[in-house]
Parts: sequence; structure tokens; C-alpha cells
Amino acid sequence: MLTEKVQNALNDQFNAELYSSYLYLSMHAYFKSINLDGFANWMYQQAKEELLHAMKFYNFINQRGGRARTAAVAEPPSEWDSPLAVFEETLRHEQKVTGLINDLVEIANEAHDHATQIFLQWFVTEQIEEEESAGGVLEQLKLMQGHAGGLFMIDRELEKRTSPTGMTEME
Ligand code: FEO
Repeated sequence: MLTEKVQNALNDQFNAELYSSYLYLSMHAYFKSINLDGFANWMYQQAKEELLHAMKFYNFINQRGGRARTAAVAEPPSEWDSPLAVFEETLRHEQKVTGLINDLVEIANEAHDHATQIFLQWFVTEQIEEEESAGGVLEQLKLMQGHAGGLFMIDRELEKRTSPTGMTEME
């Protein structure tokens, strides 16, 4: 059984993951609008991955006999000055999510909720990958310094990102 505090925190994170998905969809739409289809693909796959994260929280709350809350999801930004600005925001966002996951671990620890602690370990590890992946693209963009040839090279590379496991039905 979940304590009320743990349930609320898990529900907040369910909402935060939905927001992440919505944010990356907005970034996908931005890249489509400037014809950078590889960057758009990266964001589309990222949006699907975030939906998968959200569903993990949703299912875990239900599994533990809790009540999942389908609260409103905030509107994400929709305009950026450049691909560099998008990836700066992506890395900042993932760093913020890492902080939220760490706070959740603390709440589960205080409640001596071992099942939630174990559930959250997957997200602790996932956040290392999330920051590394966004930070990697950001570094490449910084190196290119807005050079069009470099931008198209990265775009071709990002075209290769594939669907997260278990999400092919959302293609
Ligand atoms: Fe769900 Fe990007 O962390």
C-alpha cells in the first residue's frame, strides 16, 4: 500500500513524464517546420520514450493499490531560436527530471517504501542515459557553431534513432 505522500509524488511524476512527452512533441513539430527531419525523428522517439516512462508510473500506482490522477498537462513552449537552443532546453529539462527522480527516491526512503525504491532505481539509471544522450547532441551542435553543412550531417545521424522497445505499435 502506498502512503498518501508517496502516491502524490508518484502522480506528480506521472504528470511530469507526460509533460516531457508533450514538450518533445512540440520540439518535433518545430524541427518539422524547419525541415530538419533527422532532428524531428530524434524528438519523436524521445516523446514516445517519455510516454513509456509515464505509463510505468501509471501502472505502478495501480499495481500498488493506489489511484492514478489524470491531471491537466501544462502547455510546453513551441518556438525556439535555433536547434542549439532546443537542445540546451532538452538538457536542462532532463537535469530537472533527474532532480525530480532523486526527490522521489528521498520520499520513498522516508516512507520505508522498499517496493517504490526498487521501482525508482530503473529511472535513476535511465536519467544517466537521458542526460548523456541530450548532452551528446548539444556538444555536437556547439562544435558546428551553426555551420549548415555540420547541421545537415547531424540531421542525417539523428535520422537513425529508432523506436524504444515496446513502442513500435505507436509508429
Ligand atoms: Fe522521462 Fe526524459 O525522462
